[in-house]
Amino acid sequence: MTEFDPRGTTAIVTGASSGFGAEFARRLAARGADLVVVARRADRLAALADELRARHGVAVTTVPLDLSLPTAATDLRDALDGVTVSTLVNNAGFGTHGDFIRADAAREREQIEVNVQALVALTHEFLPDLVASAGLRAGSAALVNVASNAAFQPVPRMAVYGATKAFVLSFSEAVWYETLATGLKVTALCPGPASTEFFDVAKNQDAAVGAFETAEQVVQTAFAALDRRRTPPSTVSGLMNRVQAAAVGFVPRGLVVRAVGRLGQGDD
Ligand SMILES: NC(=O)c1ccc[n+]([C@@H]2O[C@H](COP(=O)([O-])OP(=O)(O)OC[C@H]3O[C@@H](n4cnc5c(N)ncnc54)[C@H](OP(=O)(O)O)[C@@H]3O)[C@@H](O)[C@H]2O)c1
Repeated sequence: MTEFDPRGTTAIVTGASSGFGAEFARRLAARGADLVVVARRADRLAALADELRARHGVAVTTVPLDLSLPTAATDLRDALDGVTVSTLVNNAGFGTHGDFIRADAAREREQIEVNVQALVALTHEFLPDLVASAGLRAGSAALVNVASNAAFQPVPRMAVYGATKAFVLSFSEAVWYETLATGLKVTALCPGPASTEFFDVAKNQDAAVGAFETAEQVVQTAFAALDRRRTPPSTVSGLMNRVQAAAVGFVPRGLVVRAVGRLGQGDD
């Protein structure tokens, strides 16, 4: 059994009210997983839940929750009523754009809370469930942490965002190693620019460099990685993004940060 087969299990997807998260929920439901969808916009979650129940006949629980809260992971556990979770997609996140010296301190802190703190807390809360599920049936359990191509180098004018995604990549690859013997499929998904609400939230379309993928393409890449017998510790979506991520390792860091800084010089 090499394929990722979450049939009959329960998967949590954070940030499911739009973009990659909604697409992850659709694909998991299409493979027969019951869903727990999490985000702040309850109306979006309810519409997605109706769609998935009607189309795939799976159970969907909506949990409207602000993941920047320090109690988010335990609040989510409490909302699950004892259900065992086999798959966790830590996808919720956002970016800010502009020189750090002018950044809003509260918004930068919130970015770290959602992109990093909540992801670590949720992983800690549910990893024992995921590992136990992986032991029951091969290929039935997964942890996907959504990082970014921004994880591979510093990103001037998105300094905190790039740093949060470098954290997610490093953390996830370490957890991949630590759980290798358990059969749990773990990967850090690293998309390049994609057409979601991300750049509206970041308030700058110029922050995107390179060709855009669709959410469907990005999530398809994640599933292809999960379907491999040996799911890789990280998965870069898009050929040019893979080339860029690999090339960065061969160039002096001073040159890399200058090049990325020049590319991202669109105005706020
Ligand atoms: N699109 C890209 O170009 C791109 C590239 C690389 C990586 N990424 C990463 O991909 C992930 C998904 O982003 P996306 O592109 O799909 O953007 P998106 O369409 O803006 O979706 C972001 C999701 O995160 C949720 N979220 C944000 N803050 C939250 C909070 N405080 N509590 C709970 N949920 C919260 C949003 O839900 P609510 O607003 O309803 O709470 C939404 O569902 C993010 O981690 C992002 O950093 C995106």
